[in-house]
Amino acid sequence: MITLQNIMKSYPLGKDRLTVLKGITLTIKKGEFAAIMGPSGSGKSTLMNIIGLLDTPTDGSYLLEEQEVANLNENDQALVRSRRIGFVFQAFNLLPRMDALRQVMQPLLYQGIHRTEAERRAREALHIVGLSERIAHNPNELSGGQQQRVAIARALVTDPALILADEPTGALDSHTGKEVMDILTQLNKQGKTIVMVTHEPDVAAFAHRTIHIRDGLVHS
Ligand SMILES: Nc1ncnc2c1ncn2[C@@H]1O[C@H](COP(=O)(O)OP(=O)(O)OP(=O)(O)O)[C@@H](O)[C@H]1O
Ligand SMILES: [Mg+2]
Repeated sequence: MITLQNIMKSYPLGKDRLTVLKGITLTIKKGEFAAIMGPSGSGKSTLMNIIGLLDTPTDGSYLLEEQEVANLNENDQALVRSRRIGFVFQAFNLLPRMDALRQVMQPLLYQGIHRTEAERRAREALHIVGLSERIAHNPNELSGGQQQRVAIARALVTDPALILADEPTGALDSHTGKEVMDILTQLNKQGKTIVMVTHEPDVAAFAHRTIHIRDGLVHS
Protein backbone atom coordinates (compact mmCIF):
# COMPACT_ATOMS: atom_id res chain seq x y z
CA MET A 1 0.00 0.00 0.00
CA ILE A 2 2.74 2.45 1.06
CA THR A 3 6.37 2.18 -0.01
CA LEU A 4 8.68 4.94 1.13
CA GLN A 5 12.25 4.98 -0.08
CA ASN A 6 14.86 7.27 1.39
CA ILE A 7 12.36 10.02 2.19
CA MET A 8 14.06 13.26 3.21
CA LYS A 9 12.53 16.47 4.45
CA SER A 10 14.47 19.61 5.20
CA TYR A 11 13.61 23.23 5.82
CA PRO A 12 15.68 26.36 5.19
CA LEU A 13 17.25 27.60 8.41
CA GLY A 14 19.14 30.86 7.97
CA LYS A 15 21.94 30.10 5.50
CA ASP A 16 21.70 26.42 6.38
CA ARG A 17 19.00 23.73 6.24
CA LEU A 18 17.32 21.84 9.05
CA THR A 19 16.93 18.19 8.05
CA VAL A 20 13.96 16.66 9.84
CA LEU A 21 13.58 13.36 7.94
CA LYS A 22 16.96 11.86 7.10
CA GLY A 23 16.09 8.97 4.80
CA ILE A 24 12.98 7.06 5.83
CA THR A 25 12.57 3.68 4.14
CA LEU A 26 9.43 1.85 5.08
CA THR A 27 6.73 -0.45 3.69
CA ILE A 28 3.19 -0.68 5.00
CA LYS A 29 1.04 -3.42 3.53
CA LYS A 30 -2.62 -3.22 2.68
CA GLY A 31 -4.73 -4.07 5.73
CA GLU A 32 -1.97 -3.36 8.25
CA PHE A 33 -2.54 -1.42 11.46
CA ALA A 34 0.76 0.30 12.25
CA ALA A 35 1.70 2.60 15.11
CA ILE A 36 4.47 5.17 14.84
CA MET A 37 6.22 6.10 18.08
CA GLY A 38 9.16 8.31 18.90
CA PRO A 39 10.27 11.31 20.93
CA SER A 40 8.75 14.76 20.47
CA GLY A 41 10.37 16.48 17.50
CA SER A 42 11.60 13.23 15.92
CA GLY A 43 9.60 13.86 12.73
CA LYS A 44 6.45 11.75 13.22
CA SER A 45 3.94 14.42 12.15
CA THR A 46 6.19 15.49 9.30
CA LEU A 47 6.21 11.89 8.09
CA MET A 48 2.43 11.54 8.51
CA ASN A 49 1.86 14.73 6.53
CA ILE A 50 4.00 13.35 3.71
CA ILE A 51 2.18 9.98 3.78
CA GLY A 52 -1.12 11.91 3.84
CA LEU A 53 -0.10 14.09 0.88
CA LEU A 54 -0.46 17.23 2.97
CA ASP A 55 3.24 17.91 2.38
CA THR A 56 5.91 16.87 -0.14
CA PRO A 57 9.30 15.36 0.66
CA THR A 58 12.51 17.15 -0.30
CA ASP A 59 13.83 13.90 -1.75
CA GLY A 60 12.96 10.22 -2.00
CA SER A 61 10.23 8.07 -3.49
CA TYR A 62 6.70 7.45 -2.21
CA LEU A 63 4.57 4.82 -3.89
CA LEU A 64 0.92 4.83 -2.82
CA GLU A 65 -0.81 1.77 -4.27
CA GLU A 66 1.90 1.53 -6.96
CA GLN A 67 1.57 5.19 -7.98
CA GLU A 68 4.54 7.52 -7.48
CA VAL A 69 3.12 10.44 -5.51
CA ALA A 70 6.24 12.12 -4.07
CA ASN A 71 6.25 14.91 -6.64
CA LEU A 72 2.59 15.58 -7.36
CA ASN A 73 1.49 19.20 -7.57
CA GLU A 74 -0.97 20.46 -4.96
CA ASN A 75 -4.03 19.86 -7.12
CA ASP A 76 -3.12 16.26 -7.86
CA GLN A 77 -2.19 15.72 -4.22
CA ALA A 78 -5.62 16.97 -3.18
CA LEU A 79 -7.30 14.67 -5.69
CA VAL A 80 -5.46 11.55 -4.54
CA ARG A 81 -5.96 12.56 -0.91
CA SER A 82 -9.71 13.08 -1.23
CA ARG A 83 -10.20 9.68 -2.88
CA ARG A 84 -7.86 7.43 -0.95
CA ILE A 85 -6.94 8.93 2.42
CA GLY A 86 -8.85 9.83 5.58
CA PHE A 87 -7.12 11.96 8.22
CA VAL A 88 -7.77 12.11 11.98
CA PHE A 89 -5.88 14.72 14.03
CA GLN A 90 -5.17 15.12 17.74
CA ALA A 91 -7.09 18.40 17.86
CA PHE A 92 -10.07 17.00 15.85
CA ASN A 93 -9.84 19.91 13.34
CA LEU A 94 -13.61 20.28 13.00
CA LEU A 95 -15.09 23.47 11.59
CA PRO A 96 -16.74 25.70 14.17
CA ARG A 97 -20.44 26.58 13.78
CA MET A 98 -21.20 23.57 11.62
CA ASP A 99 -23.21 20.61 12.83
CA ALA A 100 -21.88 17.05 12.79
CA LEU A 101 -23.92 16.01 9.77
CA ARG A 102 -22.55 18.85 7.63
CA GLN A 103 -18.97 18.29 8.85
CA VAL A 104 -19.15 14.72 7.63
CA MET A 105 -20.84 15.68 4.34
CA GLN A 106 -18.02 18.12 3.43
CA PRO A 107 -15.53 15.66 1.85
CA LEU A 108 -18.31 14.21 -0.30
CA LEU A 109 -19.55 17.62 -1.43
CA TYR A 110 -15.93 18.45 -2.28
CA GLN A 111 -15.88 15.35 -4.52
CA GLY A 112 -18.96 16.69 -6.29
CA ILE A 113 -21.35 14.13 -4.85
CA HIS A 114 -25.00 15.23 -4.80
CA ARG A 115 -26.34 16.60 -1.47
CA THR A 116 -28.98 13.90 -1.02
CA GLU A 117 -26.43 11.11 -1.49
CA ALA A 118 -23.84 12.96 0.64
CA GLU A 119 -26.36 13.27 3.46
CA ARG A 120 -27.30 9.59 3.27
CA ARG A 121 -23.65 8.53 3.46
CA ALA A 122 -22.83 11.04 6.22
CA ARG A 123 -25.70 9.68 8.35
CA GLU A 124 -24.39 6.16 7.80
CA ALA A 125 -20.82 7.16 8.81
CA LEU A 126 -22.12 8.90 11.95
CA HIS A 127 -24.13 5.78 12.76
CA ILE A 128 -20.96 3.65 12.51
CA VAL A 129 -19.23 5.83 15.12
CA GLY A 130 -22.32 5.77 17.34
CA LEU A 131 -23.36 9.39 16.91
CA SER A 132 -26.78 9.11 15.25
CA GLU A 133 -28.27 11.04 18.17
CA ARG A 134 -25.87 13.96 17.80
CA ILE A 135 -25.95 14.84 14.11
CA ALA A 136 -27.40 18.33 14.72
CA HIS A 137 -24.77 19.29 17.32
CA ASN A 138 -21.99 21.79 16.62
CA PRO A 139 -18.48 20.94 17.92
CA ASN A 140 -18.93 23.18 20.99
CA GLU A 141 -22.00 21.08 21.89
CA LEU A 142 -20.06 17.80 21.82
CA SER A 143 -17.61 16.16 24.24
CA GLY A 144 -13.99 15.61 23.17
CA GLY A 145 -14.62 11.94 22.46
CA GLN A 146 -17.73 12.78 20.44
CA GLN A 147 -15.81 15.41 18.45
CA GLN A 148 -13.13 12.86 17.64
CA ARG A 149 -15.84 10.40 16.54
CA VAL A 150 -17.24 13.07 14.18
CA ALA A 151 -13.69 13.48 12.83
CA ILE A 152 -13.44 9.71 12.31
CA ALA A 153 -16.82 9.68 10.53
CA ARG A 154 -15.52 12.50 8.29
CA ALA A 155 -12.36 10.46 7.59
CA LEU A 156 -14.24 7.29 6.68
CA VAL A 157 -17.23 8.73 4.78
CA THR A 158 -15.32 8.71 1.47
CA ASP A 159 -14.45 5.03 2.02
CA PRO A 160 -10.67 5.61 1.81
CA ALA A 161 -8.31 2.62 1.71
CA LEU A 162 -5.96 4.39 4.12
CA ILE A 163 -6.72 6.09 7.42
CA LEU A 164 -4.02 8.22 9.05
CA ALA A 165 -4.37 9.25 12.67
CA ASP A 166 -1.87 11.62 14.33
CA GLU A 167 -2.25 11.15 18.11
CA PRO A 168 -6.00 10.47 17.82
CA THR A 169 -6.31 9.93 21.57
CA GLY A 170 -3.83 12.63 22.59
CA ALA A 171 -6.54 15.04 23.76
CA LEU A 172 -8.79 12.40 25.36
CA ASP A 173 -8.95 10.68 28.73
CA SER A 174 -8.06 6.99 28.73
CA HIS A 175 -11.65 5.72 28.75
CA THR A 176 -12.72 7.91 25.83
CA GLY A 177 -9.44 7.12 24.11
CA LYS A 178 -10.25 3.43 24.28
CA GLU A 179 -13.63 4.04 22.61
CA VAL A 180 -11.87 5.81 19.77
CA MET A 181 -9.35 2.95 19.50
CA ASP A 182 -12.19 0.40 19.41
CA ILE A 183 -13.64 2.22 16.39
CA LEU A 184 -10.25 2.30 14.63
CA THR A 185 -9.80 -1.42 15.40
CA GLN A 186 -13.21 -2.13 13.90
CA LEU A 187 -12.34 -0.18 10.73
CA ASN A 188 -9.07 -2.10 10.44
CA LYS A 189 -10.95 -5.41 10.73
CA GLN A 190 -13.13 -4.25 7.84
CA GLY A 191 -9.99 -3.93 5.73
CA LYS A 192 -8.82 -0.34 6.16
CA THR A 193 -5.09 0.21 6.39
CA ILE A 194 -4.37 2.35 9.45
CA VAL A 195 -1.25 4.31 10.36
CA MET A 196 -1.37 6.02 13.72
CA VAL A 197 1.08 8.18 15.68
CA THR A 198 0.93 7.84 19.45
CA HIS A 199 3.02 8.56 22.53
CA GLU A 200 1.12 6.03 24.63
CA PRO A 201 2.21 2.37 24.72
CA ASP A 202 -1.37 1.34 25.68
CA VAL A 203 -2.66 2.95 22.49
CA ALA A 204 0.16 1.52 20.34
CA ALA A 205 -0.83 -1.92 21.67
CA PHE A 206 -3.99 -1.76 19.52
CA ALA A 207 -1.79 -1.78 16.41
CA HIS A 208 -0.17 -4.93 15.04
CA ARG A 209 3.18 -3.34 14.50
CA THR A 210 5.12 -0.42 15.94
CA ILE A 211 7.57 1.65 13.92
CA HIS A 212 10.03 3.61 16.03
CA ILE A 213 11.29 6.95 14.72
CA ARG A 214 14.23 8.67 16.28
CA ASP A 215 15.90 11.82 15.00
CA GLY A 216 14.39 11.50 11.52
CA LEU A 217 15.25 7.82 11.00
CA VAL A 218 13.45 4.49 11.48
CA HIS A 219 14.83 2.31 14.27
CA SER A 220 13.26 -1.15 14.21
N1 LIG B 1 7.48 24.10 8.66
C1 LIG B 1 8.55 23.84 9.39
N2 LIG B 1 9.67 24.60 9.29
C2 LIG B 1 10.77 24.33 10.01
N3 LIG B 1 10.87 23.32 10.88
C3 LIG B 1 9.81 22.54 11.04
C4 LIG B 1 8.60 22.73 10.31
N4 LIG B 1 7.70 21.78 10.67
C5 LIG B 1 8.33 21.01 11.59
N5 LIG B 1 9.59 21.46 11.81
C6 LIG B 1 10.58 20.86 12.74
O1 LIG B 1 10.66 19.49 12.44
C7 LIG B 1 10.89 18.70 13.61
C8 LIG B 1 9.92 17.53 13.64
O2 LIG B 1 8.59 18.02 13.83
P1 LIG B 1 7.35 17.06 13.92
O3 LIG B 1 6.15 17.89 14.09
O4 LIG B 1 7.38 16.11 12.77
O5 LIG B 1 7.67 16.25 15.25
P2 LIG B 1 6.84 15.12 15.99
O6 LIG B 1 7.67 13.90 16.03
O7 LIG B 1 5.49 15.00 15.39
O8 LIG B 1 6.74 15.71 17.47
P3 LIG B 1 5.53 15.65 18.54
O9 LIG B 1 5.62 14.29 19.17
O10 LIG B 1 5.89 16.73 19.51
O11 LIG B 1 4.24 15.90 17.82
C9 LIG B 1 10.77 19.66 14.78
O12 LIG B 1 12.06 19.95 15.26
C10 LIG B 1 10.13 20.90 14.18
O13 LIG B 1 10.57 22.07 14.82
MG1 LIG C 1 3.52 15.44 16.07
